[in-house]
Amino acid sequence: MGREIANVMGFDGAGWLERPSREITEQPDRVIKSLNLKPTDVVADIGAGTGYFSFRISPVVSQGKVLAVDVQPEMIKVLNGLKRDRKISNVQPIQGTITNPNLPTAAVDLVLMVDTYHEFSHPREMMQAIVKSLKPGGRVVLLEYRGEDPNVPIKLVHKMTQNQVRKEMAAVQLIWKETKDFLPYQHLLIFEKSAA
Ligand SMILES: C[S@@+](CC[C@H](N)C(=O)[O-])C[C@H]1O[C@@H](n2cnc3c(N)ncnc32)[C@H](O)[C@@H]1O
Repeated sequence: MGREIANVMGFDGAGWLERPSREITEQPDRVIKSLNLKPTDVVADIGAGTGYFSFRISPVVSQGKVLAVDVQPEMIKVLNGLKRDRKISNVQPIQGTITNPNLPTAAVDLVLMVDTYHEFSHPREMMQAIVKSLKPGGRVVLLEYRGEDPNVPIKLVHKMTQNQVRKEMAAVQLIWKETKDFLPYQHLLIFEKSAA
């Protein structure tokens, strides 16, 4: 669809995902608050990495759960280790493949992808499976570095423009609802699966 796909960030970068500066640049608590989650929601964090977002979402969905999907077994090992160390029961690590996140059908309220979608080697197959996993009216949220902004200090291949994301989500019948631009570098784009 006119976009170069980025290479997957290797598991040797796991430490970098936990860098303290993310609290300022990505404001995870503000991002999570803006999602208006319910305590019973089931959230799928796809490309969860070390669970930077998954473990922060876990207390917000205290009666629901976070399905933390990653394609790299090393990330799943980290997720399982942190889940055990932090004694968290509602984060469920799931080993995905490059075409399928292995989620249950029509079971997810919100799918979150933070700095991940642009790395999918098979974006259409992944998105078709993601849409299947959503409940009717379920949401898909992408956080991506703003491709339109030359001042965002990231290589172009790791950024996405709003138009490109909207084009790719429309191709799997997701309805654009809102783009929030309160973060210094990233778009937060919200889409919905038709309730019909
Ligand atoms: C840049 S990291 C971001 C990690 C995490 N979302 C965060 O914000 O800390 C991207 C992650 O996406 C994962 N990934 C890439 N393609 C994937 C796919 N098809 N399914 C699941 N995970 C994938 C990578 O293994 C990596 O852990």
